[in-house]
Parts: sequence; C-alpha cells; structure tokens
Amino acid sequence: MSHDYTRQPQASSHPPTPSLPGQASVPKDAPLPVSELVPSPRLLLGPGPSLVHPRVLRAMSTPLLGHLDPEFLTIMNEVQALLRTVFQTENPFTIAVSGTGSAGMEAALVNLIEPGDTVIVGVNGVFGTRMADIVGRAGGKAIKIEVPWGQIIDPHRLEDALKHAGSVKAVALVHAETSTGAHQPMEEIGPLCRRYGALLVADAVTSLAGVPVRVDAWGIDACYSGTQKCLSCPPGLAPLTLSPRALAVVKGRKTKVQSWYLDLSMIADYWAEGKRAYHHTAPISMIYALREALRLVVEEGLEARFDRHDRNSAALMAGLVTLGCEPQAQAGHRLPTLNCVRVPAGVDEAAVRKTLLAEFGIEIGGGLGPLAGRVWRIGLMGESSRHEHVVTLLSTLEQIFGQHGWTKQSGAALTAALQAYATAT
Ligand SMILES: Cc1ncc(COP(=O)(O)O)c(C=O)c1O
Repeated sequence: MSHDYTRQPQASSHPPTPSLPGQASVPKDAPLPVSELVPSPRLLLGPGPSLVHPRVLRAMSTPLLGHLDPEFLTIMNEVQALLRTVFQTENPFTIAVSGTGSAGMEAALVNLIEPGDTVIVGVNGVFGTRMADIVGRAGGKAIKIEVPWGQIIDPHRLEDALKHAGSVKAVALVHAETSTGAHQPMEEIGPLCRRYGALLVADAVTSLAGVPVRVDAWGIDACYSGTQKCLSCPPGLAPLTLSPRALAVVKGRKTKVQSWYLDLSMIADYWAEGKRAYHHTAPISMIYALREALRLVVEEGLEARFDRHDRNSAALMAGLVTLGCEPQAQAGHRLPTLNCVRVPAGVDEAAVRKTLLAEFGIEIGGGLGPLAGRVWRIGLMGESSRHEHVVTLLSTLEQIFGQHGWTKQSGAALTAALQAYATAT
C-alpha cells in the first residue's frame, strides 16, 4: 500500500522551478526540490475527513468559472436547493459558509449574539466547550449545562436552566458530539426554546446526511455542518441554514458583528438571488464538490442513507464489543456516524492506531481532552460507511489484537458483525 515519496518526475518534463525571494535559483536541469504529490492510499475511518466519492473529486477538477458568472450563480442556486433538501428545511437563508465546520459554528453564534446576551450551552464534550468559548468571545454570557462526556443534555435540565436564567437569547446544543459519540435528541428542544423565547442553535457537523436532521420539524433556528463528514466532500465549506426568526435577529442587530468575514448580513447579499453583491471570492471548486456530494446524497435518498449508517454502525459495534470495546456514549443515544469506544484494559491504544495507519493504511481517531488515550473514535460517515470497511477494520483489529495476545477468540468479532448484518432488517 505504501508509495515511494522520493520518486522524482523527469526534470525535463517540467518548466524550471521559479526561485523564491532570497533563494538561490534552481539550475535548469536540476530535479524539482519536491516530488509530485502522491499521497498514500488511506481508508479514512476517523472522525473526519471521510472518504470522498470519485465523482466529487472529478467535479473539483473541472474548470473554474468566475464567482459572479451567471453560470456559477445558477450552480449556487442548485447548491442551496440541495442543501435545503438535506437540512429538511424551507429556509430561504441556506448557504455554504467559506471555511470548515468551525466557521459555521462561529458564523451562527457571533451573528446571533450581541454583547450582554445570555446563551445556554450544553457542554458534554469538546464541541459544546468550543461553543461556550465562542459565546464568551462574542461578549455573551454562557450558562453551561455540563454533564459527563458521553451523556446527552437532558431536556428537563435545560428547562430548569431556561426557567431560572432570565431572558435567554439562544440555546446551543451539539446534535452529534464527535468527541464522545453522543447523539443528542432534538425533537423536544425546539418547542421548549420557543416557550421561553430563545433561539435554538444546533451543531450538525457529524450528523448532517448521516442521521436525520429535521431543521423545520424540530424548530431549529440556526443549524450548521461541515463538508468533510457525512457529506463525504473535502473539508472547506460549512453548510448553514437560518430560520426566518434567526435571520430577523441578525438583521435587527444593534451592534456590528465583530467578524467582518463571517458577517452573515453581508454574506446574505452574495447568496440572495437578485442581489449577488461581492463580499469575498467564493471557493469555486469547493462549491462544485459540494454540489456533486449533495447530488450523491439525494440520489441515494436520505432515509436509505440513514439506514446504511445505522446498519454499518450496528455491525461494527457488535464486533467491537466482542473485542472488549464498550461504547462511550450513553445507552440509547449512540451515534452511528461516530463510534466512540473505550479501549480495553491492557491494550496499547496509541500503538494500535499507529499499526493500523502505518501497516494497513487505516485511519481511526484517538480520544480528545479527558478521553485522550482511553477511547477510539471510529467514523463511519458517508462513503466511509460501507460493509466492506467494517469487515476490513474488524479483521485487521482482530489480527493486531491476536498478535499481542489481547484476544483468544480469533474471528469472533467478524462473526458477530456478519451476524448483525444478517439479522438487520
Ligand atoms: C461536532 C463538531 N463541531 C464542530 C467541528 C469543527 O469543524 P472543523 O474541524 O471542520 O472546523 C467539528 C469537527 O470535527 C465537530 O465534530
């Protein structure tokens, strides 16, 4: 599987390398200082990025259009329509923010919050912690509902906080906590927020297009994601949708958003049909990629895609439990897209990940923060969520475990997974 990074292309087939300021110029016939880019093949089963379909890669390599070219504007409209389907929303304000998932998080929060606003934030992992940090940086007051990592935020605790906090501008929750694999139920939260006059902000970075995200039905006011997870597109865009209620809050701000780049009222003028005012140069190739990734999602069908994620995760988990790896997330609230399991006692966590990557080209993730060294995070998202990948990973893990004497029952994990597939409806 490994590739020879030292391979040099024929010097004569390339134009001379231009010298950088302060550098000696490269002689005309000298080999290029760096070789052609040939990354090693990887089976990406970590917390992201996930594998990308060849159609998406092909879309990215198609020729550029200008970012105000009418043909490109049509492509933007198509992306918006596809995003509405995937977010299950009618929100006119549905766009792709330039930047990764964190740009979506930051855009949602800094546009809704003004200095002095109170925001209740569910903190049960890395990304809730990050949301609370952004609220503070935007001049807001974050009231944290903290629960042990892996647990969900109980709606009763949230209601209690809403009752006692006074005027609350927004509630911010992570729908899919990538650091723990917890799957936050959202159905009850929207109506609860409405009763208390608060907006609901949801992080769907690890859920969108992998598990249901029903923005309108659940009453979510601001929902963002990232392209590199269940959408199976390279990292670089953050799909974002705002309800009319949230958009009215953005437009009615008394103070300017402190971020110029992420000021959604200005970005809205670029994405709004009819206006298309320049704000920043759209990342054209990424928009192409997202369009193709979304086409693939819609072609498969949302429900079929969710079922696929459920099936593969159930089989993987059946195998992992056989190896002694118990899920970190609260029972009944486990994400199928991000499978976070505790490393069995006596097993060298880092050595397993290192062997998987170096010898088998398989990437899985380690733990973050307090879970570092204690869990593995296995992503089965988008193109990575396939039967054959589950089989490959479990067989490889069994081999590594067997070599170290960490399991006596060679083949049991794979058998458990295959049984789970056989019994899946
Ligand atoms: C739940 C969640 N929110 C936000 C982010 C931030 O996204 P990015 O790393 O793309 O900026 C991530 C990244 O893994 C995530 O999992």
